[in-house]
Amino acid sequence: MNLEISQAQFGVRPPVIKPIPEFLLEVGEKGVRELVSKHYDAIKKSDIYQLFPQDDTEFEQAKVNSADFFIQICGGPAYFNTNRGAPRMVGRHAPFRIDAKARQTWLELYKPLLEELKEQGVTETSLLSFWGYLNIFSIWMINTQ
Ligand code: HEM
Repeated sequence: MNLEISQAQFGVRPPVIKPIPEFLLEVGEKGVRELVSKHYDAIKKSDIYQLFPQDDTEFEQAKVNSADFFIQICGGPAYFNTNRGAPRMVGRHAPFRIDAKARQTWLELYKPLLEELKEQGVTETSLLSFWGYLNIFSIWMINTQ
């Protein structure tokens, strides 16, 4: 599966396309929560962990918030809006110094998890659509040169 990482140009926010509805239909809400949880667990062992909550309870809550967002953006119930308010993703990431390298790491940590979903039978079309969304929208979160 070709999970390509686009080169980011600082300050440029390319247009984002949401994942196709088939992604959530195939993976399911529980599957998305597991995916996000595994991604956060991988973050914990990476060199971007220092950006994230160091308190375990807060870290677990971060998983819930993020999964709420991903389910919502993938066409599911508006969990994030209900629990956290308007997404304002760029603003919510502003307190953290996210550079191109941090984005690269963040994305790389998703790759094995998406390969795992492929082995479990999720279609490549759905996975590539989800990846395309992450690949582009993650560029928007870069706020540090
Ligand atoms: C570019 C690399 C990224 C880094 C380094 C990063 C880092 C962070 C950090 C440090 C937090 C705060 C702790 C937490 O609540 O988890 C956070 C929150 C969050 N991030 Fe990211 N993030 C990145 C990209 C993204 C992308 C692309 C998305 C969505 C597609 C996203 C969605 C979220 C959500 C939904 C939250 C929770 C916000 C809240 O509830 O207040 N992040 N991120």
